[in-house]
Amino acid sequence: MPRPKISIIGAGNVGATTANLIAAKELGDIVLLDIIDGMPQGKALDLLESGPICGFDVDIKGTNTYEDTNNSDIVVITSGVPRKPGMSRDDLISINTKIVKEAAQNVAKHSPNAIIIVVTNPLDAMVFVAAHVSNFPKHRVMGMAGILDSTRFRTFIAKELNVSFEDVDAIVLGGHGDSMVPLPRYSTVNGIPIAEFLLQDKINLIAERTRKGGEEIVNLLKTGSAYYAPAAAVAEMVESILKDKKRILPCAAFCDKEYDVGGYFVGVPVKLGRKGVEKVIELKLTSEEEDTFVKSVEAVKSLVATTKKFL
Ligand code: NAI
Ligand code: 2OP
Repeated sequence: MPRPKISIIGAGNVGATTANLIAAKELGDIVLLDIIDGMPQGKALDLLESGPICGFDVDIKGTNTYEDTNNSDIVVITSGVPRKPGMSRDDLISINTKIVKEAAQNVAKHSPNAIIIVVTNPLDAMVFVAAHVSNFPKHRVMGMAGILDSTRFRTFIAKELNVSFEDVDAIVLGGHGDSMVPLPRYSTVNGIPIAEFLLQDKINLIAERTRKGGEEIVNLLKTGSAYYAPAAAVAEMVESILKDKKRILPCAAFCDKEYDVGGYFVGVPVKLGRKGVEKVIELKLTSEEEDTFVKSVEAVKSLVATTKKFL
């Protein structure tokens, strides 16, 4: 049986790191595509040459042409411009809309049965662009952000309590912006709600640090944005899809009646399997949580309206 084929558009920090993790997990053969001549080829060859040491048997090809991505099972779109200090994710909208549009047109042409995972920011609006342009069924188009935001929340909780990462679960809903919605009520240490361990003030501080988690890294790096945790999050999604694991993970998924969103992609818990988004899980929210979620969805709607100028 042929191995699954995963194409990664954009061989920059997130794209190349994702390729590394996907290869290490032997999830399938990888194509790395970028507009820069030689760069994806060089990174692909370098990564391939780590195979004998790391012990993975997958093929990795670098390219500048979409023909090499033909018939991919999954296409991860990371092409675009990342943030610099002082920029919000939303500042990237005009340039990245055009880049994601071009990528999605090529996915539709070369891999009509693929599942698309968008990473490019501003995330929720870029997923909308990819879905609109590819015209794929909505369950085959999704965005990575919620796993990243949640792993930041989990990290800060585990460090604060000095407990193992393994035992901390947490969830962040809504758009991948400053109005994202960390949900402490659904955040636990080995099933025990975090409110049993932490005072509300401390939980609020951790939630705020999570909301600003991307900016914290941008301000430290100064030349770009986070990529190790984002790539790990993408690899987790790819694994759940290709192995049909049906994990419940927070992803940007199409919600119409769900959460009363009305036809937009926003971060919600989903069941992720071989068909893509197999179910949106609807959590019961308190009125306060719902208010915050609604504000976050409004921010996504306004970004989507802006993308329409560039489509
Ligand atoms: P990067 O600058 O390292 O890589 C982007 C790559 O895209 C570059 O190599 C560039 O040459 C390539 N590219 C640009 N136009 C292209 C085109 N038309 N076709 C193919 N490739 C093209 O940036 P990085 O750090 O990898 O981030 C990529 C994107 O992902 C950014 O928009 C960033 O904001 C976003 N991001 C989103 C996250 C999320 O949680 N959703 C997390 C981390 C990054
Ligand atoms: C982050 O949250 C850049 O959106 C990306 O790190």
